[in-house]
Amino acid sequence: MEEINFNQIGISFKGSGSYVPDQILTNNKISNKVDTSDEWIKSRTGISQRRISGTDENVTKMGYEAALSAIKMSKWDIETIDLIVLATSTPNDLFGSAPAIQSKLGAHNAVAFDLTAACSGFLFALVTACQFLKGGSFKRAIVIGADQLSSYVDWNDRRSCILFGDGAGAIAIETSNKFENLIGFKMRTDGDRGSFLNLPSNNDRDSIIDNISYSSGGFDSIQMNGQEVYKFAISEVPEIINELLQMTNYSSEKVDWLLLHQANQRILDSVGQKLKIPKEKILSNLQNYGNTSAATIPLMMDEAIRKRIIKENDMIALSGFGAGLSWGAALIRWG
Ligand code: ACO
Repeated sequence: MEEINFNQIGISFKGSGSYVPDQILTNNKISNKVDTSDEWIKSRTGISQRRISGTDENVTKMGYEAALSAIKMSKWDIETIDLIVLATSTPNDLFGSAPAIQSKLGAHNAVAFDLTAACSGFLFALVTACQFLKGGSFKRAIVIGADQLSSYVDWNDRRSCILFGDGAGAIAIETSNKFENLIGFKMRTDGDRGSFLNLPSNNDRDSIIDNISYSSGGFDSIQMNGQEVYKFAISEVPEIINELLQMTNYSSEKVDWLLLHQANQRILDSVGQKLKIPKEKILSNLQNYGNTSAATIPLMMDEAIRKRIIKENDMIALSGFGAGLSWGAALIRWG
């Protein structure tokens, strides 16, 4: 384990939680709506089914359930939580859904806010929360990734609707004066390539009075250039993980688990091959949930922790990537 200087503040990982809606949408059901097939979707993406929010399920509900279960695992008193960061692109309140989660949890001493970075959201939120902890401002934080992309998918567009699902995951982190389990991170943004993946406002205009018009709010559906996003992911993700490993003086053999944003099994396989990380070390559950955007990393992490696949002191290379374009990687040790 990485011992730290007495005066430094380190990070330790204390708990995880997740939540997925009950409704299951299989590939076969999608093929009743658009011209596709279970075989095509499975072979091109690795996805068999995804979860879709029901009437009582939204980002607040899913994020709350995931956070509560992470708090239970960490055995924290709710009052001791200082910070809640919710990574989401689909809040059910555009002013932010994190305060509603803070209220439902009864975490009255926690500052809570949303952070948007699409499918990189959880990784960016984790790094953000760690900075508050390492800076000495806060001691305990819950980092949540939750998204409800089913509300923004064009269910008539077979090129994108097959990919996405809803869900949430959460991780509990705290300061440590003994260990540093956030070994390193790297983050990147390239707005020049932003047009490859968007969820733009719909630009509907109305009039307030006379000739004063206003934009009436509301969003379009997801617009994606799948091939360009695919090429971006399989080139940038291995590169940033390699850079991170070099920066932290770790080789890929030291990585116990590669936990990538669950976008497409072919992306996971290609990145693993480029990094020379064997298939058995690549965590994947996208077969069951599809791409849940900011939720994929903590959802997969929670599953692997509860199944005792990820164990105390395991080294995990995380990478989130997606719209922005944005991408990043973090090397962490669980525990
Ligand atoms: N069923 C059947 N055929 C289809 C489907 C479908 N669902 N979708 C596309 N096709 C057809 C196309 O029309 C095309 O037919 P044509 O050759 O006659 O024109 C053919 O299949 C091949 O299409 P491609 O787009 O080349 O298929 P590709 O192998 O690239 O797979 C996919 C498409 C799965 C979308 C892939 O490009 C991909 O996964 N890209 C990454 C997308 C992604 O991860 N986005 C999320 C990023 S995270 C975030 O920030 C939200």
